[in-house]
Amino acid sequence: MLLKGRLLTSKLFTSPASLRCTATVSNPKTAILMLNMGGPQHTDQVPEFLLRIMTDRDMIQLPVQSRLGPWIAQRRTPEVQKKYKEIGGGSPILKWTELQGELMCKDLDRISPETAPHKHYVGFRYVNPLTEDTLKQIEKEAPERVVLFSQYPQYSCATSGSSFNSIFYHYRQHSLPKNIKFSVIDRWSTHPLLIKTFAERIREELNKFCETKRKDVVILFTAHSLPLKAVNRGDPYPSEVGASVHLVMQELGKSNPYILAWQSKVGPLPWLAPSTDDTIKGYVKQGRKNFILVPIAFVNEHIETLHELDIEYCDELAKEVGVEEIRRAAAPNDHPLFIKALSSIVAEHLKDEKPLNPKFLMRCPMCVNSRCMESKNWYRHICA
Ligand code: FES
Repeated sequence: MLLKGRLLTSKLFTSPASLRCTATVSNPKTAILMLNMGGPQHTDQVPEFLLRIMTDRDMIQLPVQSRLGPWIAQRRTPEVQKKYKEIGGGSPILKWTELQGELMCKDLDRISPETAPHKHYVGFRYVNPLTEDTLKQIEKEAPERVVLFSQYPQYSCATSGSSFNSIFYHYRQHSLPKNIKFSVIDRWSTHPLLIKTFAERIREELNKFCETKRKDVVILFTAHSLPLKAVNRGDPYPSEVGASVHLVMQELGKSNPYILAWQSKVGPLPWLAPSTDDTIKGYVKQGRKNFILVPIAFVNEHIETLHELDIEYCDELAKEVGVEEIRRAAAPNDHPLFIKALSSIVAEHLKDEKPLNPKFLMRCPMCVNSRCMESKNWYRHICA
């Protein structure tokens, strides 16, 4: 039995030369705000990070949230800090996002000179650099245009939706800068270059299996799970993840058996299933013992790939249940195809007359969140 996961990947965020970003323009014509939840860079940021997650009603809805949220955050802090310590002391997501943004803008200056100079900014939801602080910085640098670019390829109201709602909240309390044009890229789960990136990441690992078993390796796509309550409200995330999976397998010529499973469930309520760990266990029982795990909804390495997939599943679980060989496809990170995907998505968006996707203005059919209604009305107005 043995895993050849991506444990090495955890070393990538320490201080690779490739991650050193160069200074960029201070007065860009086009600003691209890269939105994500973020991750603590040091373990002492974990309490604040968890507190922000647990008190965000777009991300999670708890009874008496203002009291229960902080209590859960405090309780979970030691366990989460331990996990970050085990992957080297913090999340690499900021460093990857900075690098992706830097490379994306270089390419954008080349392929879209009419909107240059471009500059990327990072806006995290739960940890520095917080979106609201970055918006203030952007305003000072006074670009002509700001593209709000969700870094989640597949849209969920809990992730992308929460980031977009937080921008609406910020401007409810601060006046909207005149002379800046805002537009939105909310989802890109089927972009051909994203699909090619994932296919390449899978081929990299598939080629490491010996030829005799290569075609039987199970490609196990894994994405963060979602409570069934959110799914039943009509959250588009599961279908958008499914669309990515389908296209990646088409790109690979349906070369292997595959399955989509869901990871990182928390709490006792029902979430999307099957879980990634149960899927590994179930297939091993059925005699399928070779796997590639593919984090299809993560564009950077972070705790869910470096700890949950690499340590908990590819190492501990694989040994426990008798897996023969298990590998993990790297997240897109700085793969050249992925950087090209990012710059193409933005360039296509900048050329397009539409400042946002009409789907973005549509609420889930069973949405009961008044913040979504106010936020969508605001975007309809500011992106008109
Ligand atoms: Fe999806 Fe409100 S929960 S739009």
